[in-house]
Amino acid sequence: MSKWFQDSVVYQIYPRSFQDSNNDGIGDLNGIRQRLPYLKKLGVDVLWLNPIYKSPDVDNGYDISDYEAIQPNYGTMNDFDLLLSQIHDNDMKLLMDLVVNHTSDQHYWFQESKKSKTNPYSDYYIWRDPVDGHEPNNWGSAFSGPAWTYVSERGQYYLHLFAAGQPDLNWENPQVREEVYSLMRFWLDKGVDGFRMDVINLISKPSGLPDADQDGGAAYGDSFDIVSGGPRLNEFLKEMNQKVLSRYDIMTVGEMPDSTPEEAINYTNLNGTELDMIFQFEHVNLGGNPDPRLEKWNDQPVKLSELKEALSRWQVALDGKAWNSLYWGNHDQPRVVSRFGSDEPRYRELSAKMLATTLHMMQGTPYIYEGEELGMTNVHFKTLSQYEDIESINAYHQLVEIEKVVDPDRMLDYLSFMSRDNSRTPMQWNDEKNAGFTDASEPWYALNPNYQEINAKDELENYNSVFYYYQSLIKIRHESELVRYGSYELLDPKDEEVFAYKRHYNGQTLLVMSNFTEQNVERNYQQEDGELLLGNYSDSQKYLRPYETKVYKFG
Ligand code: GLC
Ligand code: CA
Repeated sequence: MSKWFQDSVVYQIYPRSFQDSNNDGIGDLNGIRQRLPYLKKLGVDVLWLNPIYKSPDVDNGYDISDYEAIQPNYGTMNDFDLLLSQIHDNDMKLLMDLVVNHTSDQHYWFQESKKSKTNPYSDYYIWRDPVDGHEPNNWGSAFSGPAWTYVSERGQYYLHLFAAGQPDLNWENPQVREEVYSLMRFWLDKGVDGFRMDVINLISKPSGLPDADQDGGAAYGDSFDIVSGGPRLNEFLKEMNQKVLSRYDIMTVGEMPDSTPEEAINYTNLNGTELDMIFQFEHVNLGGNPDPRLEKWNDQPVKLSELKEALSRWQVALDGKAWNSLYWGNHDQPRVVSRFGSDEPRYRELSAKMLATTLHMMQGTPYIYEGEELGMTNVHFKTLSQYEDIESINAYHQLVEIEKVVDPDRMLDYLSFMSRDNSRTPMQWNDEKNAGFTDASEPWYALNPNYQEINAKDELENYNSVFYYYQSLIKIRHESELVRYGSYELLDPKDEEVFAYKRHYNGQTLLVMSNFTEQNVERNYQQEDGELLLGNYSDSQKYLRPYETKVYKFG
C-alpha cells in the first residue's frame, strides 16, 4: 500500500526570499499566501517551509529562540493559521522545519543553562570541563573553528556542531526529549502535515565524546563523521515515533548528512516505526576538493559516472525497503543548472529540463527548490562582501586568512560555484522592480541580475518554458504507477556522456535518456518501439542533441 508521501511532489519555500507582502524587503507568510495559485498551477502537493520561528538569524532561522512563536519579520501566528488553512483549502499540505539538534543561544533554556551547573536547565545542553585549559576534544564546527565555546559563568565549554549561537541540545536528558515532543505536538495539533528534520542524525553523541579523525592537516577533527548515526539515534527516533509521529497522519523526512543506504533503511522503513524518508548527501557531496582541508570548496564539474553511481545505488538499495527523497537543490546547495548543467543562455533551459527529467523519473518523492522550476541560476558574485551566509563568510576567513591554504581569488571562485547564497537570492517573479519580489527600495538580499531574462511571468506566458516542463513532469508522476513505484535499472554505468536508465512495473518499462554534454551523441536503446512521453526538443532525431532528454514508455 502506498502512503500519501510516496505519491507527492514537495516544493520547498525559503520564506525570506519567496515573496514580500508588506514592503519591508523580507519575504513573509502573507507573501506565500499570495502565491498559492502559482504553486497550485505548478501542481505540487506539499509545501515545506524553511524555519519561520523566532530567531536571531545567526544562521537564517536555523537558530531558534522560541519554537512556538513566528519570527516577527514573517508575520503573526494569525497569518500562519490563515496560511495553513488556505494551503489545506487548496488540497495541499504543509511541512515545517524541525530544528532540534540545537537551539539558539538566545533560547530561554540556554540563557538559563549557562548561568550555573545547578539550575533546572543546566543539563539541557552539552557542557564539559576544559581539558588542560582548552577544548574538551578536537571537534570542528560546520561553520569553521572549534565546536566548543567557553562560558566563564560555568567555567565550562558547551558543544555547538554549528555556530556558537547554535548550542547542541543534550538528547540524553529525557526532559529535553519531552520538550521536543511537546513543541512537535504544538504544531501537529494546529494541523501541520509533517516535518523536515534538520540534521536529525546528529542528535545522539558518541559516549565519552572522543576525538574525531583529523585528515590531511585539517585544523579540527571531522565532528559530523564521528557524531552521525550515533549510538542512541534509533532509540530516540523510535521513541519520537511512538510518542508523537505515529499519532498523526503525517510525513517526515530527516536530513542526514554522511548517511549510507544501509543507515537510511535502518532509520526509515515502510512500516512507519521511525521516519518516512531521509535526505542523503552522496550525490551533492561529489566533486569536493582533493585537498581535504578545503572540503566542499571547489569549482570542478562532477564526473557523470560518479553521479550515476551515487544516485543509482540509492535507487536500487532502497527499492521495496525504504523510500528515496529526490532532490538536486535546496537552500544549502548551489543552483542545480549551474552545478550539473549549464547556465549559459543557449543551454540553460535545455539543461534545466534535462536535469529535472533525470531526477523526476526516478523512484522516490521529488523535492523542488523555489526557482528551480524556472531554471534559476547561480548568482556569480565577485567579492566577499556580496555574501551573507555564515558558512561562506567563515570558510573564507578560516581558509584564506587563518589557515592560508587557498588564495583569495581561488576561494572566491569556489564560493561562486558552491556557496549556499546562490540559492538564497529572491525569487524572480517578473522583469519589473526588484523582480516583483518586493516594492521596498531594496530587497533583504541582492537579486540575481538575470531576472530580466529569467522570471515566472515570462515563463507562464511561454508554453515551452521550464515551468510548464516541471508541470508536465509532476502530472506524469501523478498519473503513472510505473513512474511512482517501478524498479530501477541503470544502463551503461561507465558512459560519461549519457545518463540512461529503465524503470519496470507490471510488465511496463520506462526508458529515460539524458545527454549531459554539449555535443550530439548517438545511443541506440531501441527506443523506436516505444511511445515518446516527454522530451525537451520539439522534434525527435536518431541522436541526442546537447542536453537532450527523452522519456519512452513500452508496454
Ligand atoms: C541544516 C540546514 C542548514 C543549517 C544547518 C544547521 O543543514 O539545512 O541550512 O545551516 O542544518 O541548522
Ligand atoms: Ca515582508
